[in-house]
Amino acid sequence: MRVLGIETSCDETGVAVYDKQAGLLSNQLYSQVELHANYGGVVPELAARDHLRKIVPLIQAALEEANLSAADINGVAYTAGPGLAGALLVGASVGRALAFAWKVPAVPVHHMEGHLLAAMLEEHTPAFPFVALLVSGGHTQLISATGIGKYELLGKSMDDAAGEAFDKTAKLLGLDYPGGPMLSKIAQQGVPDRFIFPRPMTDRPGLDFSFSGLKTFAANTIRKNSRDDQTCADIACGFEDAVVDTLTIKCRRALEKTGFKNLVIAGGVSANHTLRTKLAAMIYKRDIEVFYARLEFCTDNGAMIAYAGMVRLESGVTQDLSVSVRPRWPLTELRPL
Ligand code: KG4
Ligand code: ZN
Repeated sequence: MRVLGIETSCDETGVAVYDKQAGLLSNQLYSQVELHANYGGVVPELAARDHLRKIVPLIQAALEEANLSAADINGVAYTAGPGLAGALLVGASVGRALAFAWKVPAVPVHHMEGHLLAAMLEEHTPAFPFVALLVSGGHTQLISATGIGKYELLGKSMDDAAGEAFDKTAKLLGLDYPGGPMLSKIAQQGVPDRFIFPRPMTDRPGLDFSFSGLKTFAANTIRKNSRDDQTCADIACGFEDAVVDTLTIKCRRALEKTGFKNLVIAGGVSANHTLRTKLAAMIYKRDIEVFYARLEFCTDNGAMIAYAGMVRLESGVTQDLSVSVRPRWPLTELRPL
């Protein structure tokens, strides 16, 4: 089976072709970052219009890269949620229409299931059951995954997602959107422990998170100190250490609670270098393995949607001719395969 995957949930247009036997045949990505940078965040209407502008050329490029024609595609997968309604509608309508024209089945994909399964695109893949930490711009969740679609929520953020906290704190430090990766970069020059941020909700049992207080702590720290480059780097370092320590502590607890031996980290923040280092230290001398997607598949992409779509299509999940999207869509509502 060969599936064309389309991702348009936020500010990245991604199109890829995944083949069950041969693996990933092509992967095309267009980022709208520059478009939204002028506004300091994603403008939903502009995002939708830009997806519309880019989607068809990207599909053509993905087919060309894979050396395929439309007749070689057996199914079309598109992100149906969660995400921005207008942006989702572009990918969903184009995907559904193409599947109709090509006389192949279409399948809606849950964006977070795409992230969760992105590690399956690598050579060494995690086996079920595993604990998944989903850390993106919109979500922070700990999931017990016992099979495809068998997801139980262990904990989630009560307020800001981890990526959102990175982006908001980066903005306070005067860094351009999306500030997460940039904050992490300047944090490398920071002096650890000059500013010690709290580790929210780690002093009580449970697997939920809260990151909005860190942003306020950052705002107060910035206000009380000078704005030189070293101080900004030190604040970034203190902030990053607090987020990463908190995520690491909760992952350890989730592993202890479930008794699972595999940990999957997915979503944009899984690209964070400090997170990877601290998780490696946490699992050291424990009988636990941690899995990530390669860096380009940590953030939004079409490959993870093509893969997740293929898995669902294979077990007979398809969408009728109607087009619908779900901007809010809990991962736990997915049907097990
Ligand atoms: O998964 P993703 O590409 O999009 C969503 O589904 O939200 O995640 C984007 C988020 C942004 O908040 C971005 O700042 C954050 O992931 N991010 C990072 C890093 N790379 C991306 N945060 C911290 N460190 C990074 N290296
Ligand atoms: Zn995402």
